[in-house]
Amino acid sequence: MKLNREHSIALDAEDQLAAYRGKFALPEQEIYLDGNSLGAMPAHLPARMQQAVASEWGNGLIRSWNDAGWIDLPQRVAAKIARLIGAEGDEVMVGDSTSVNLFKALAAALRLNPGRKVILTERGNFPTDLYIAQGIAGLFDAEIRYVDSDEASVLAALDEDVSVLMLTHVNYRSGRIYDMQKITAMAHAAGALCIWDLAHSAGAVHVELNAAKADMAVGCGYKYLNGGPGAPAFVFVASRHLDDVRQPLSGWHGHAQPFEFLQEYQPAAGINRMQCGTPPLLSMIALDAALEVFEGLDMQQLRAKSRALGDLFIRLVDEKLAGYDFGIASPRDSALRGSQVALTHAQGYAIVQALIARGITGDFRMPDILRFGFAPLYVRFVDVYDTVEAIAEIMEKDEWNQEKFLTKKAVT
Ligand SMILES: Cc1ncc(COP(=O)(O)O)c(C=O)c1O
Repeated sequence: MKLNREHSIALDAEDQLAAYRGKFALPEQEIYLDGNSLGAMPAHLPARMQQAVASEWGNGLIRSWNDAGWIDLPQRVAAKIARLIGAEGDEVMVGDSTSVNLFKALAAALRLNPGRKVILTERGNFPTDLYIAQGIAGLFDAEIRYVDSDEASVLAALDEDVSVLMLTHVNYRSGRIYDMQKITAMAHAAGALCIWDLAHSAGAVHVELNAAKADMAVGCGYKYLNGGPGAPAFVFVASRHLDDVRQPLSGWHGHAQPFEFLQEYQPAAGINRMQCGTPPLLSMIALDAALEVFEGLDMQQLRAKSRALGDLFIRLVDEKLAGYDFGIASPRDSALRGSQVALTHAQGYAIVQALIARGITGDFRMPDILRFGFAPLYVRFVDVYDTVEAIAEIMEKDEWNQEKFLTKKAVT
């Protein structure tokens, strides 16, 4: 069957999640395919933030720590995220950035598995994960073993020296999904712990951390969870490790009795010990409010739409962009792909800029990746259709080939 615009409009008409787009403050014409970098703003956020700033901060001042419940907001936000990643509320803590939480988790994992010195990861992991591992390796006298990204290479590198296997569930470039359950089981069989980065999974892909027996995980609040720029991140520690886990950023919010102001650090019970210092409250409030959108949402249904959007995109690329030298860097099988599709093209940067000039926002990743994120809560099937049509026109008219599109900006 030839795919036309009417077909995409019909898919939107049947889409049971279609009404969710109205929960976001997106301009009517906006085609936003970058929710995997920065999620869209939920429509009710400005009013909630106005209240937080004017009433809770402005009038309530420091009293709001108690009166507005600021002090246990991280735990309440954590419980909302836990539901989305197959964890219990008391296994998740919210605060700091993904990078900082990874630092805490990696250090804690190395301590839980002493006598082994290797952090195993893959070369294509997100740079901050690699950089944090490098920082930790220097501090803990550990060694990093880098392997190729494919599952067989990762599994073959698990041996008696590996203390912790650190992987990103959905790859930031290709969108490839690792089999969390299988890889975690193999890591455990080799005596290693497993840390998963869920930056590109939480809120878009069905995740079952406890069913997979994951040891620890981290993830972002500002991507598919729509918590806003620089939103607090989360960290998960499986309940079986909570009594023993010790992380080195032993700030007062992770203390057993922070308001006793004792001299010696005593880790709080349970997941609270993964906290460090005062959280960014306004950002925490924004994330809390953003997560309301997920209430009652069936994650399987969300995932089904994410797969269907990506499938449609790939079919359209095959049909409309043949002959323009594009490659598809993502798995074609949607079961193996997160909520994004990556194309490759030598002029990828300029093509993305030409698209942005037409009101269609994706992004570019070195060296040649055009990345399109399909946040299922607000991306429409017709957006997918219009995007591929626009790329075809840009190629046909050589529209990308202009100085203003070829000059690189600081953020790509
Ligand atoms: C896999 C992964 N981890 C971590 C991050 C970001 O970490 P942070 O929020 O600390 O900058 C990203 C950002 O894109 C990412 O893709």
